[in-house]
Amino acid sequence: MLKGKKVILGITGSIAAYKAVYLLRLLVKEGAEVQVIITPAGKKFITSVTLSALSGKPVLSEFFGNEDGTWHSHVDLGLWADIMVIAPATADTMGKMVNGICDNLLITTYLSAKCPVVVAPAMDVDMYAHPANQRNIDLLRRFGAHIIEPATGELASGLEGKGRMEEPELIVQRISEILAIEKKKSLSGKKILVTAGPTYENIDPVRFIGNYSSGKTGFAIAEELAHRGAEVFLVTGPVNLKISHPSVHRMDVVSATAMYDICRKLFTSCHAAVFAAAVSDYAPSDVSAEKIKRSTEDLTIHLKANPDIAAELGKTKKAGQVTVGFALETNNAEKNARQKLARKNFDFVVLNSPNNEGEGFMGDTNRISIIHKDHKIENFPLKSKQAVAVDIVSALEKIL
Ligand code: C5P
Repeated sequence: MLKGKKVILGITGSIAAYKAVYLLRLLVKEGAEVQVIITPAGKKFITSVTLSALSGKPVLSEFFGNEDGTWHSHVDLGLWADIMVIAPATADTMGKMVNGICDNLLITTYLSAKCPVVVAPAMDVDMYAHPANQRNIDLLRRFGAHIIEPATGELASGLEGKGRMEEPELIVQRISEILAIEKKKSLSGKKILVTAGPTYENIDPVRFIGNYSSGKTGFAIAEELAHRGAEVFLVTGPVNLKISHPSVHRMDVVSATAMYDICRKLFTSCHAAVFAAAVSDYAPSDVSAEKIKRSTEDLTIHLKANPDIAAELGKTKKAGQVTVGFALETNNAEKNARQKLARKNFDFVVLNSPNNEGEGFMGDTNRISIIHKDHKIENFPLKSKQAVAVDIVSALEKIL
């Protein structure tokens, strides 16, 4: 995918700049023509000599040439590139990007670029988590950038946490996938329903039955679908996540019945649905109007079954409509998943397990298997939830 592609590699002032050298090497090895643009702070971390030797091109940093009156046109650079990758991206650079503060060649080029832009942030855990930085990342997403979220682990500061720039191999893989998608916005004209997150079923005004679903996979799927040109209707239970792609219409609900009511209305006009929500199977039969007081040693709460959204909509499926379900299984995983596939009339089911480290509900990674209607099974390795979403959307795209 990278052969002959013109890539701008933007490098900013982070200790992770050393990883950009490996990234550059990999891109060149894959056949890409790479133009490096480094910010003044980036040059404090790695030298232009290394970068120009590996890219075979002079490294750009200043607006103006030496003494001869020439200048580097950010507009030409922005139009030249097939893809622009900023790795590592500091909080400072992202802040400038979203505010249009053009005090270096990298930012002016970003503002002139017509190509897809990929941003791989790298910084300390607390800087990454700061609301200012999170707001800027949201804005970049809204402007259409592809964010490669940093990994969690040891940081240059000695602290542990989220902030390590993603590994160069994974960034190259993501760039290839983005270029493949850009080649044709394969899902344009498709309307797709996605459910995500948990549901909360009220017991009384202050208590509920819920589950540990984070919603991360459903949100990553919604974003990936939108990147491929689909119009996405994201119906989500209570989660701590944001999504800002202009083609994602988000609807927040609390209970399973509320989620069902919205999904029923939307599904008829959708080409596909991905049921990633962890919907509560039961809800209290009666919701107490007052907070339940502790009065007895035992308390019994009677539960009634909630609508099974996926199964109910599966019954109404018209020819050509595609549905995808999830099976989170703690035992007899494959057998249970196959039963769900048939019972809920899915085109394929995504099987995952909460039993193993790094898999399931709450973390940033997951290991899935996809079981198709024709009984074929595909097993995938442990990946970030974003990368898992890419695999799921690719499987859906093949059917659509
Ligand atoms: O039966 P189980 O809850 O394991 O089925 C999981 C699949 O069914 C998921 O795709 C989930 O989103 C969907 N589901 C649903 N409504 C329910 C229960 C599950 O849509 N009430």
